[in-house]
Amino acid sequence: MDNVQTVAHDVRSPGRTWWKEGIVYQIYPRSFMDSNGDGVGDLAGIASKADYLASLGVDIVWLNPVYRSPNKDNGYDISDYEEVMEEFGTMADLDRLVAALHGRGIRVLMDLVVNHSSDAHPWFVESRSSKDSPKRDWYIWKPGKESGAPNNWKACFTGSAWELDPATGEHYLHLFDPGQPDLNWENPELRRAVYAMMRRWFERGIDGFRMDVVTLFSKDPSYRDLRPGEGMFSPSAPYICGPRLHEFLREMRKEALDGFDAMMVGEAPGATVESALELVGEDRGELDMLFQFELMGIDHVEGDKWRQKPIDLVEMKRVVERWQLGLAGRAWNSNYLMNHDQPRSVSRFGDDGRFRTESAKALLLFNLSLAGTPYIYQGEELGMANAPFASIADCRDVDTLNYHKEALAAGLGEAEAMRSIRYMSRDNARTPMQWSGEANAGFSTGRPWIGVNPDHRRINAEAEEADPDSVLHFTRSMTRFRRERKVLVYGSFELLARADPRLFAFLREGEGERLLVEINFSGEPTAAAALPGDWTILISNLGPSGGPRPAVLAPWGARISAPA
Ligand code: NOJ
Repeated sequence: MDNVQTVAHDVRSPGRTWWKEGIVYQIYPRSFMDSNGDGVGDLAGIASKADYLASLGVDIVWLNPVYRSPNKDNGYDISDYEEVMEEFGTMADLDRLVAALHGRGIRVLMDLVVNHSSDAHPWFVESRSSKDSPKRDWYIWKPGKESGAPNNWKACFTGSAWELDPATGEHYLHLFDPGQPDLNWENPELRRAVYAMMRRWFERGIDGFRMDVVTLFSKDPSYRDLRPGEGMFSPSAPYICGPRLHEFLREMRKEALDGFDAMMVGEAPGATVESALELVGEDRGELDMLFQFELMGIDHVEGDKWRQKPIDLVEMKRVVERWQLGLAGRAWNSNYLMNHDQPRSVSRFGDDGRFRTESAKALLLFNLSLAGTPYIYQGEELGMANAPFASIADCRDVDTLNYHKEALAAGLGEAEAMRSIRYMSRDNARTPMQWSGEANAGFSTGRPWIGVNPDHRRINAEAEEADPDSVLHFTRSMTRFRRERKVLVYGSFELLARADPRLFAFLREGEGERLLVEINFSGEPTAAAALPGDWTILISNLGPSGGPRPAVLAPWGARISAPA
């Protein structure tokens, strides 16, 4: 037993809003639907699936970056914040897509990547041209030390976070790829340019932003070295939640969001429950919610995503409970089991073999039963699984390619490196959406930019439409279920069976209702939660609903019950 208290907290939040009640569906445009046969997904392709999106019962769509980009990091290196990437279409296509979604009652979030731009952005081209450039200070330039770089910071995708620019003999900071120089948020002109750009997007009809690596905007002006044992995203790292972050976010809300009914979800590496309360606290006027990484780090060894360990369910419950209770009544959670940076949820948290269908449904039921806004990633509603990458030639992601090179140079065997890649690579989430069992999974008539998963012959939307027991139909039942029961949005959360290694069970209470959520996170039958009274099953991933609650949950069984 650990020492977290089992107390039910009321997570009811002062304000009721569309973004608290909504379910978000994330689209990775490059891999969703290709309308013109060039092998790359595009905006017209997404628009052609607007009815499908509406049929899922989602309220909000988040598009990964669609801006102009040299694509060193698939659109997270932006060279023009106000133009669409040529491969994805035109501004007119984007307007049409937004109109198609709005017409179906679905709001649209764009990705806002302003910790860094592309090195091809005119701002950076100007900045690097000379030390006297008026844009010099829009990026972070430092002289090197005798030993080389200005400090020991590492870039997320490998190597030093500093790049020496021969033109001026100074180094620029890039916490990601060298093609992604960090913007200098200390500079007020830069901040004004960002806010003005955001307003123009809101005026165009966008309903909000997902803010890339928002915790990294403010760097500690000491630029001190990382200390021994301090990892890149340790909460104490000198660029995580830096001294001016809150000031910047409040200024942004005032300057960019004022007058718009828009939402802001921040991607927050290094955030803890404590720092989250400062970033998304209801009374803070900063962000509306954030993506925490503690759950995603649960199978990493010493914070290294490429060294993995099995998931310990008791630890997973501890993390989930800490966030559910920690933000209760004071801030708002975002719940996700995967995104474009993570492996497929069914392969990681479920069982993509014998119990693929059951466990994919169980995970959807779990994610859609928590307090906070749920995010579903494209293909999750089909139970899409990790890809069987045979060699590094099958991979495209800069992070994966760099890891492979480094691991082999450090003496790791090819087989071991590929094992880790098959489990953890971001490319697992980026293989094309599986629309049908036909060539290229119905994603494109051309050669897809990354290979389709061969399991598309079995796992695809068309087959699942035809099968009433599919993950797809269960997803629709679950979104409907959540929509009809506001207790799942605004009710309290109370963890049960804390030490049970297989059962994840909790109560949600409020809005005049009491629901018991039970998920068997294992391939063995397991005892149900020990609770007095009679309960009736309202929704289940296995048997019918409406009956009494059996004392045992079948492998990967998941259900929600109410007092009889
Ligand atoms: C987080 C994004 O989700 C990821 O895909 C990207 O590589 C980094 N931020 C850098 O922008």
